[in-house]
Amino acid sequence: MIRNTPQAPAALGPGSDFPSLWPAFLPSICGGAILCCFPLCAAVWTIQSQRLENWVWAEDTSYVPTAVPWSPEHQMQRLQVTRKLLETEEQAAFPLGGTPPRYVYLASNHSNKWGHPRGYRIQMLSFAGEPLPQNSSMERAFSWGRYQLAVTQRKEEEPSSTSIYNLNDPWTPTVDFTDFINNETIAGQDLVAWVTAGFLHIPHAEDIPNTVTVGNGVGFFLRPYNFFDQDPSFDSPDSVYFRGDQDAGACEVNPMACLPQAAACAPDLPAFSHGGFSHS
Ligand SMILES: *[C@@H]1O[C@H](CO)[C@@H](O)[C@H](O)[C@H]1NC(C)=O
Ligand SMILES: *[C@@H]1O[C@H](CO)[C@@H](O)[C@H](O)[C@H]1NC(C)=O
Ligand SMILES: *[C@@H]1O[C@H](CO)[C@@H](O)[C@H](O)[C@H]1NC(C)=O
Repeated sequence: MIRNTPQAPAALGPGSDFPSLWPAFLPSICGGAILCCFPLCAAVWTIQSQRLENWVWAEDTSYVPTAVPWSPEHQMQRLQVTRKLLETEEQAAFPLGGTPPRYVYLASNHSNKWGHPRGYRIQMLSFAGEPLPQNSSMERAFSWGRYQLAVTQRKEEEPSSTSIYNLNDPWTPTVDFTDFINNETIAGQDLVAWVTAGFLHIPHAEDIPNTVTVGNGVGFFLRPYNFFDQDPSFDSPDSVYFRGDQDAGACEVNPMACLPQAAACAPDLPAFSHGGFSHS
């Protein structure tokens, strides 16, 4: 299950104040979408995996000084893959601004054909800025913003990282996300991954009359990691394979070439031309 909770902003541009109304009206303006037109908007996504027992793995690389086999008096730095099982909620809480392992994935203890645990990797893409300073008296209401990723045990009484009441009284928040991270084991548990993604949009002249959104994406990919035995797109029924010496426009070679004839829903466009483009 994937669920998102739009959240309040954590920072503003130079010289801007943090208007007191902000936390109250921002979620309604965001309307559940991760992208919005305010200077910074972040969203926390939770992912609950299907199996109830999962483990969190971290993979990265490290340099290992090794004697050069053909010249033992010299050393080289050999790159090795490191793999670590994360055992507690603390170990799987990655602060914003830190460097999390480059691969983090949640896996069951079932293996694929190659003997690797079947899992899903969380690949994050975020340009979130500094979170609220932790010595601020309202920070606990937005403490989800401290983490780019945190994995916790799933609990009925921890359904979301914040509460709408946090906005009304951020000084004594109803939900403080950091309470969820309390040294519990995450090995072989029903888990929730909390992902925070955000970006900054400072309104500028080129936003008039419309804001270009290309390149503004944030979020994360939830991608199979040893979940399958091979690239699952091989089983996609509409894949097309043809060789260089075949006619890609022939229906028997490329069924997609006949789509307009075969598909009842394909639009029947009359021939037209416009500005040098012609369709016949
Ligand atoms: C997976 O873990 C569960 C609970 O720890 C255990 O009962 C089960 O035997 C394990 N399965 C495999 C394939 O290791
Ligand atoms: C919070 O910490 C920052 C940096 O450590 C400091 O400059 C600031 O004065 C502190 N604010 C409060 C309210 O203690
Ligand atoms: C976390 O739990 C482990 C084992 O369950 C214990 O050894 C450790 O002291 C605990 N740490 C904290 C900060 O409570």
